[in-house]
Amino acid sequence: MDKKTLLISLTNKTEDELIRLLSEPANIIRENGTVVFPTETVYGLGANALDDFAVSQIYEAKGRPSDNPLIVHIANITMLDSLVLEVKPYVEKLMDAFWPGPITFVFKKRPEISNKVSGGLATIAIRMPKHKIALKLIEMSGKPIAAPSANLSGKPSPTSSRFVVEDMNGRVDCIIDGGDSEVGLESTVLDVTGDIPVILRPGKVTCDQIIDLVGACEIDPAIQGHRIDTSGVAKSPGMKYRHYAPEAEVHVYIGASTDIVKYFYEQAMNKIERENKCVGIMTFEEDEAVLSRLFTPEIMNSGKVQILTVGSFKDWSTYGQKLFENLRQFDVLGCDMIFVRGVEEVGLGDAIMNRLKKASDGKVTRI
Ligand code: TXA
Ligand code: MG
Repeated sequence: MDKKTLLISLTNKTEDELIRLLSEPANIIRENGTVVFPTETVYGLGANALDDFAVSQIYEAKGRPSDNPLIVHIANITMLDSLVLEVKPYVEKLMDAFWPGPITFVFKKRPEISNKVSGGLATIAIRMPKHKIALKLIEMSGKPIAAPSANLSGKPSPTSSRFVVEDMNGRVDCIIDGGDSEVGLESTVLDVTGDIPVILRPGKVTCDQIIDLVGACEIDPAIQGHRIDTSGVAKSPGMKYRHYAPEAEVHVYIGASTDIVKYFYEQAMNKIERENKCVGIMTFEEDEAVLSRLFTPEIMNSGKVQILTVGSFKDWSTYGQKLFENLRQFDVLGCDMIFVRGVEEVGLGDAIMNRLKKASDGKVTRI
């Protein structure tokens, strides 16, 4: 594919400048082209959700199988009504609480909405993002925008425009730079077609938050283990493909800080000295402080060990922000294998571990 990609930087712009600079990308959407835009979760690869040709351009740019349905992004409730058949009363409560924001609802779709965008399902996934550039782009184009994460299929989702350019330059009509993604993990996907909401993909909005509001929430059994059944029709088809994988092999470990630090140090030294490997370590700042003293300055300076941090153990939101960025960065640094400190599956830990299980193909060990 060899498109001429228009690059637009929209960081630190006033409202007036945004409106002026978004008129071209809004035009591209109306003319059924493709535009990568920032959202608060990750960057999205967008096109007019109401046009089959436009939607086919998304699948082509991503190299994604077209049975994998897309999330449709809206800027107001009028757009929602034009896409879905019914909104159950409990969903109104959830929309009031979390929209605009990092949660996607799966509704029964109107029959006139093309199967292309929903991968042949009778349902449609919809999200109102919180990012002001995303909202303005949707509003100005006047179209609901279908958008998967703007990575090539199988790679970690992009949380900054430099990763988007890496994957999508020449494959889309326009890329909008809007700085780093605030959340860093894709939205929670919640099936709201039944009487009880079911989480199909964990994200920043957690099961407990949903229970607090509407009294019930289930987690789809398919996401509790990482080895997803690849036969038949998955409920959320996105779950059946391997995801988020950097080039290097990823191993995830869960345990107490002292054990993790000792294990990472010993394992890394082993790989470096015996196999001359370059080892990446992703862990909390507190562990990094200890590790960087354990490794000799020679080893640290040799580039054979690369430590990237995910914020403090006391606040996992930075882990969410940094997870995909770091996985991609290890590839840039040329690491052969990556040791990752995992977390317990509570709160945001559910979403973090969901992505890590996929990136490691299930190589998660408790030590
Ligand atoms: O945060 C996000 O959700 C980002 C930004 C760009 O909004 N988008 C995103 O899209 O992550 P994508 O295509 O990478 O992931 C969409 C997920 C997949 O797991 C897909 O299977 C699921 O949503 N999905 C989409 N439509 C569905 C449907 N009708 N029923 C069940 N699952 C659906
Ligand atoms: Mg994706």
